[in-house]
Amino acid sequence: MVIAIDGPAGSGKSTIAKLLAEKKGFLYINSGKLYRAITAGCLKAGISPADSEKVQEFAKNADIDYQIIGGKDTVFLNGEDITDQLHTDEIDKHSSPLSAIVPVRHIVNDIIRKLAQGRDIVVEGRDMTTVVFPDTPYRFYLDASAESRAKRRFDQGTSKMSLEEVKNAILARDDIDKNKAEGSLKIAQGVHFLDTSDLTIIQVYDKLIERID
Ligand code: DC
Repeated sequence: MVIAIDGPAGSGKSTIAKLLAEKKGFLYINSGKLYRAITAGCLKAGISPADSEKVQEFAKNADIDYQIIGGKDTVFLNGEDITDQLHTDEIDKHSSPLSAIVPVRHIVNDIIRKLAQGRDIVVEGRDMTTVVFPDTPYRFYLDASAESRAKRRFDQGTSKMSLEEVKNAILARDDIDKNKAEGSLKIAQGVHFLDTSDLTIIQVYDKLIERID
């Protein structure tokens, strides 16, 4: 069984996907972390995330492994655990244009499909409900106002930016994520749409579980 959740940054999808996976005993897959891992690897290797050819070459040859270790979604890049390096302002900024490179999307989607094989999963991202798992009946799109999303990100404390700057950065990423040649963020026909702006985590969880069960 596949539960697929899409939505923009700060819509609450990671928190909800993780909670759902825990409660149901499913594997949790955060697809954004795979794009972030490739971005981190490119930056470390001195490759500009905008250099499509070099990024593709890097992604093709990279050994990317995703595991849940001690309840935490952990990403290994070429044998190194880089999980704690993935949520910086720099990676936030560069992962969005990097994820617009179509062959990179195919590499990431292959990794996700392999992880999912023969398993019950909760997977979240931007194109899980449209491209990767369009046939699962359990498809959700979470959204929230730009203000709520910025506040959530700001409160996570991982950014060095002001609240206003976080909001502008989120809007800039939205724009790129919604206008990709492939895998762009959109509300697919038939998905369950939920605005989480004024809902608590538990309220969102309850609404999703009601649909699923
Ligand atoms: O979900 P996130 O913010 O960690 O994702 C990081 C970037 O990766 C984001 O800007 C969009 C991109 N992404 C994507 O294009 N497709 C996905 N399925 C997941 C993330």
